Formats: sequence, C-alpha cells, structure tokens
Amino acid sequence: MFKFPKDFLWGAATSSYQVEGNNKNCDWWQWEKKAGKTISGDACRHYGLYEHDFDIAKSLNHNAHRFSIEWSRIEPYEGKFSHKELQHYLDVILALKKRNIEPVVTLHHFTNPIWFTKRGGWENQHSVERYLRYCNFVVRALAKHVRYWITINEPTIFISHAYILGVWPPQKKSLLKAAYVEEHLALAHIKAYHLIHNIYKGLHLNKPKVSIAHNVMAFVPCKHSLRNRLAAYLRAKVYNIGFLERISMGNFLKRMPLDFIGINYYSRQVVAIKQLGAGNMAMDTCEKKHHRISKNSLGWDIYPKGLYDVLLELKKYNLPIMITENGICTYDDGQRWKYIHDHLKYIHRAMRKGVKVIGYLYWSLMDNFEWDKGFAPRFGIVGINYKTYKRTIRKSAKKFAEVCKNGILK
Ligand code: FCB
Repeated sequence: MFKFPKDFLWGAATSSYQVEGNNKNCDWWQWEKKAGKTISGDACRHYGLYEHDFDIAKSLNHNAHRFSIEWSRIEPYEGKFSHKELQHYLDVILALKKRNIEPVVTLHHFTNPIWFTKRGGWENQHSVERYLRYCNFVVRALAKHVRYWITINEPTIFISHAYILGVWPPQKKSLLKAAYVEEHLALAHIKAYHLIHNIYKGLHLNKPKVSIAHNVMAFVPCKHSLRNRLAAYLRAKVYNIGFLERISMGNFLKRMPLDFIGINYYSRQVVAIKQLGAGNMAMDTCEKKHHRISKNSLGWDIYPKGLYDVLLELKKYNLPIMITENGICTYDDGQRWKYIHDHLKYIHRAMRKGVKVIGYLYWSLMDNFEWDKGFAPRFGIVGINYKTYKRTIRKSAKKFAEVCKNGILK
C-alpha cells in the first residue's frame, strides 16, 4: 500500500486545441487542411460541454484539472482582444472551482494565432512581447481565481517538431531557426514568470505558482558499452536539464524562474551508437525489436522506472515537482490502469527518497485530437464516441478515482 500526502493534487489534463473544437483562428486549423492531415473539426466539443466534462472529473474524485487557454480565441487579430472569449475561460475556471477542482492553467500549448504565425511566429524577435501582451490581458483578468500557471507547454517538443523534424506547423527544418525559437521561448517564459508575479503583487494576491510543463524522457543504453552509456548520460543532461538551465541563466544567483517544476513523462529512448560522431552521439537509437517491453499504440516504450530516474535527477533543484502529464494511448484499458499504477508506484518511491512531488495529472481526461496523429490514439480515461460525442467512463478512470479519493494506492 502506498500513501500520498493529504494535499496532493489529483486529476487529469487537456489542451484547448485537442478538445475544444473549431479553433478557426489558429495556425493548426489552417495547417491540417494544407498538409492533408486529419481535420480536428469539432474535436471533443469540450468548448460547449465543459460543465458536463467537469462533472465527470468531479465524479472521479479529481481535485485538480489542467487545461489551456487558446491564444487564437483570446486574440484572433493582432491587438484585438476578445472579452467574450475571456469570459468563456473565466466561466471554465469558475466551473472548476464550484466543483472544488484546482485549475492549473496553461497559457500556450503548441498552437498560435494565424496572425502571429504570419508575422514569423516564434522566430520573430517581437514574438516575446506579443506573447506577453496576451499573457498580461489574460492573467490580470483571471488572477483572482488561479494559483497554478503553466507559461508554455513543452517548449523543447514544440521546437523539435516544428523547427527540426519539420512535422508540425510551420514545418521548418533549420537548426538556426530552432535556436532563435529556443531563445524566444526561454525569454518568453522568464518574462512571463516575472509578469505574472508582478500582477499578483499589484493586486495584493498571494504569490502564484508558475512553471513550464517540461517534457522529460528516460535514456537507456542498449548494450552497456561505454559509448552507449556516455551518450545516454549526456542526452539525459541535455534533454531533461538543458532547457531548465537555459531559463535560469542570467538570473540573479541562478535563482530559477520556476515556483515548481512541471514535467510531462511518457516514455524512454534506447540509445545505440552506430559509429562515433557528434551526430550519432546525439541521435542514434536502437531500431531492433529485441527489447521485451510493452508499448503504447503509437509504439512508445512503457518504462515507469524512467519517471523515478528523472525525478531523482531533478531533486537537486530543490523545487516541488508536479507531474503535469503522464499517460498512455491504448485500446486495452487494462494496460492503461497498469501504466497509471506502475508510474504512481515509482512516483511514491521517489517521494520516499525526498523528491517533493505535489501532484499527478493524467493525460488525458478524455480521448482527443492527438496532433498530426489524428483521433486514433486513445489517451483518455474517458472515451469519446466521435459520432455522438458521448462520453464513456473507462474502468481505469474508476480505479484511478479510488486513488484520488483518499491518496492510497493498493
Ligand atoms: C504531449 C503533449 C500533449 C499530448 C501528449 C500525448 O507531448 O503535451 O498535448 O499530445 O503529448
């Protein structure tokens, strides 16, 4: 039996574009048509059904919920802010609070307004001030009701998919552009961190808790050769720690502009260096199928111990850690419960080693639009029928609800 603290945050996460539907002023909306991808369309119709979805979360004993605000709704045209959409998100937050569910609010989750992308997106040096203007509008209005803010979701995944691999909009493949984008996202976070704190101070509110949601992975050497081990070690440093170090650079006494560390953990990478070379050390992975390990429906390795390793790696920062995403896409709901159970066990183990984990948010509350992979991956503890939009509570959701109820994992 594993007992978690009384004030632990339990719940699930979503993001606006993946669940709301009809975000027509967003760059993804244009891109999915142009690139011939699955059309997100109505997604889960969560924009209209949020009260219903939060009733479900409440019935599952969730006391926290992470969602994102869609920038392209709030600012559909440059400098033109929509008070109607702002009211919508205020209603969303109040609907959570009415149910005693703590909102964890993300300000940027991969998507950008079309006008912003047209002006060069995050490559443009003015991107930072554009983002801050949006943050200022939103945070000022919602501050009274929100304690936890996520400035940017997975900056490193956004950079790698949109600017290095070129599989997400704006589909660039340029290390130079990626470097600019990284600089701007880092700066955007640092400045948003201080902006949010200043807004709370000005409004005489208790200090907010601000972080990014940082994607982390386990890196495991295939054969335990020296070079595989070295590469795995270095990749963990660069991938898991790099961006965190990047945002603390230049800050007084290296104080990190983070009140907690939000991490998204899913999987591992198996490192197998084919030949010596900088590129190989950075990129080579094992393609062979000889690892006996279960996988999710997208083929990602399931490796709960990796979460434990990463948590211990992050312990040195001495900051609370929130699991802002952890989840599995699968057609086998029993496998989903095992995934949740095993990860929670390892989280508990890390906590016994002194890592201060403050919450666990499963990805995702419901099946949703999984970016360029469309609707096939089923990440939800609640299933969605995309013809009727009927929600079905899965068994895994009920088992997880038992843990959320009293913080005890059997
Ligand atoms: C994360 C994203 C989230 C979702 C999951 C499966 O990288 O933050 O939006 O797509 O992966």
